[in-house]
Amino acid sequence: MATFLLLLPLLASLAAAAGGQGHSPSPIKAAYYPSWASETFPPAAIDTTLFTHVYYAFLLPNNLTFLIQPSSDTSSLLRNFTATLRRASPPPKTLLSFGGGAVADPTLFPRMVSRQDYRQAFIRSAIEVGRAHDFDGLDLDWEFPKTETEMKHLAQLLREWRREIRIEARETGRAPLLLTAAVYFNPEFNWDPVYRKYPVRSVARHLDWASPMCFDYRGAWDTSATGAHALLYDPNSNISTSYGLRSWIQAGVPSHKLVMGLPLYGRTWQLKDPNVTWIGAPAVATGPGDLGVLNFKELEDFNAKNGATVVYDHTTVSTYSYVGSSWIGYDDAKSISTKIGFAKDHGLRGYFFWALSFDSEWKISKQGEFGFHLINLPKTRKVTISFVFFYFLL
Ligand SMILES: *[C@@H]1O[C@H](CO)[C@@H](O)[C@H](O)[C@H]1NC(C)=O
Ligand SMILES: *[C@@H]1O[C@H](CO)[C@@H](O)[C@H](O)[C@H]1NC(C)=O
Ligand SMILES: *[C@@H]1O[C@H](CO)[C@@H](O)[C@H](O)[C@H]1NC(C)=O
Ligand SMILES: *[C@@H]1O[C@H](CO)[C@@H](O)[C@H](O)[C@H]1NC(C)=O
Repeated sequence: MATFLLLLPLLASLAAAAGGQGHSPSPIKAAYYPSWASETFPPAAIDTTLFTHVYYAFLLPNNLTFLIQPSSDTSSLLRNFTATLRRASPPPKTLLSFGGGAVADPTLFPRMVSRQDYRQAFIRSAIEVGRAHDFDGLDLDWEFPKTETEMKHLAQLLREWRREIRIEARETGRAPLLLTAAVYFNPEFNWDPVYRKYPVRSVARHLDWASPMCFDYRGAWDTSATGAHALLYDPNSNISTSYGLRSWIQAGVPSHKLVMGLPLYGRTWQLKDPNVTWIGAPAVATGPGDLGVLNFKELEDFNAKNGATVVYDHTTVSTYSYVGSSWIGYDDAKSISTKIGFAKDHGLRGYFFWALSFDSEWKISKQGEFGFHLINLPKTRKVTISFVFFYFLL
């Protein structure tokens, strides 16, 4: 007992060092659940052995009051989602995500974050709805802040959101809700061309983790050439997953607060010359699929049915296939497992997939099984474990 008391402060400080702000550094293998597909892909269809966290995509705030007010149908799906996953074995954590890539009104988030009273309405109702439906956390998917002013407002939103989450946890005696956000693959960017940079200090401080969307680098908006839309390395440009993730770390977000985005879909082009098929080959239009997008299951079927040639490209860590004038750039099991290796080597916290129902018999989602349980935890963590072990030996 005396030995244990002597060790106690040491153990506590080691545990704190390992856990950052008191959170466990356990690896994250996450995925977004597309709620609009719930008829064909109900929550019970999720293989929970493959994911530690599942996000419900998406809810939006009311466009005038900025309150989160799910309809009764949505409310029952939310309850079904969390109840199903809580009973699953193992039970992943659930997060309720706000926003998404298909928000029709581009002024919605900019207006919401622009005023303190609007932010508060959003934050408080988000917490209330999250708790009422038994979620473990909340997630923001704002694609994307457009100006430096919007980035400043985002910083205010995150600060206030974290404060309200702390207050709510203290008042209810419950574990605080997780708070996360999906972000652009690179912390700073020029579009339109307007320069903006994420409030990285705020992101690092107030979020449990940020999830760079490491995909959509090329697509239907440029039909002049084929592209690997989620490549890990690009010898010719900085538009790549390796560049984006390193930039987030260099900008000051610790690697253990970054969760790498992985696509379960491909982007397609129509080749100009069916004999010129490399990445960056001349193209004239989008290829198969709505807006030149095929999910993994669809593109695998397309490749098989049409006898497409499949090429794994080592330089970029991506895969493409072609047949006739159709060309598809995507990730397969090999590129995904290589990227997961990159995430591990850089000390990232984990990865997430967009989106759950796009896989084919969990082929791609399963790649994490081989990689991420071997993540290098901070060294202090191993020390803690051996001290505890030592105590039990005594
Ligand atoms: C809010 O949404 C409604 C219904 O979709 C729409 O008619 C209205 O124009 C929107 N208001 C604003 C301020 O965007
Ligand atoms: C979720 O909904 C499905 C379909 O309506 C139902 O069969 C299932 O029992 C529900 N699960 C829970 C946990 O409520
Ligand atoms: C890539 O970014 C670095 C700085 O991080 C810059 O020096 C370099 O010129 C950029 N390369 C391209 C091709 O834009
Ligand atoms: C593609 O190459 C083959 C064999 O070299 C040739 O017969 C064919 O005409 C070429 N097709 C086009 C569209 O250039």
